[in-house]
Amino acid sequence: MSISLTGRSFLTLKDFSADEIRTFLSRAHEVKQEPRNGKPRSRFAGKNLALLFEKRSTRTRCAFETAFGEEGGNSVFLSTADIHLGAKETLEDTARVFGRMFDGIQYRGFGQQIAETFAKYSGVPVYNGLTNSYHPTQVLADFMTIEDRLGILRGLNLCYVGDGRNNVAVSLAIGCAKLGINLTIASPQELRPSRGLLDDVEQSAAKTDAKIRYTSDVGDGVNGANVLYTDVWTSMGEESEVEHRKEILTKYQVNAGLMEQTGKPDTIFLHCLPAVRGQEVTANVIDGPQSAVWDQAENRKHSIKALMLETMF
Ligand code: CP
Ligand code: NVA
Repeated sequence: MSISLTGRSFLTLKDFSADEIRTFLSRAHEVKQEPRNGKPRSRFAGKNLALLFEKRSTRTRCAFETAFGEEGGNSVFLSTADIHLGAKETLEDTARVFGRMFDGIQYRGFGQQIAETFAKYSGVPVYNGLTNSYHPTQVLADFMTIEDRLGILRGLNLCYVGDGRNNVAVSLAIGCAKLGINLTIASPQELRPSRGLLDDVEQSAAKTDAKIRYTSDVGDGVNGANVLYTDVWTSMGEESEVEHRKEILTKYQVNAGLMEQTGKPDTIFLHCLPAVRGQEVTANVIDGPQSAVWDQAENRKHSIKALMLETMF
């Protein structure tokens, strides 16, 4: 039975079942093959997409713009310097106006609450392109890349090393638990996810038998990992933490030695990017043969196109 996702916002993976996430992934793999079959399409012709950014972006913005534009859609980029967003006009009013003019809204910024308000008051699908809490479109590309490289997801061992409570780590934890991927988060105690999130993730994991584990022993954490994943030590908006993070995360750097400690020669390395070489990852790993980061970046576009195709029509 096919699953309809028409009209749904994509704010967090918490809102989606395993089958629904699989629907996005299957469509993303299909979309990736399409241009190679020589079939140009214009599936977004006549549609308008708002791209609202409070934080910087390279991949997410380019993925939305190119995916939408190459199929005839019109996207409008709006930074907070351009529009009234909570200043001079309430968020609710801006959302209502967007809903009258756009067929979808991408929001990247600070508060998850802002994305939720847009979804509630615009009446059109809202895509979370990263908030302080979650980065769910990233995880679609991550899972797609793992399937491209390793052929499966369920039962694989993924180890995330570094800031275990940031938007990427938390979204990975939700997704892994739902899809039956074993996840170890190796991070200092103070950078573990909140209790509330852990409860939620554990409930999902109980249904899929995914083993979700947290450790501060990075060597133990990476042992047996099929996928090693890291992200920046300091996320956007947390710049005051830079020096402290360097102190507590230095031993969590992904380097050649840590890759070897997986005990597997074919472990792949993932990073959502942008990366800081010499901090969370060394150049010889991110630029080395086990790195899949460029495929992962490309897959942002295919998975985001699939997301819009599934939800806008
Ligand atoms: N991975 C990611 O979201 O990249 P950008 O910040 O460049 O969009
Ligand atoms: N955790 C990072 C992800 C960037 C794509 C940040 O929020 O800055």
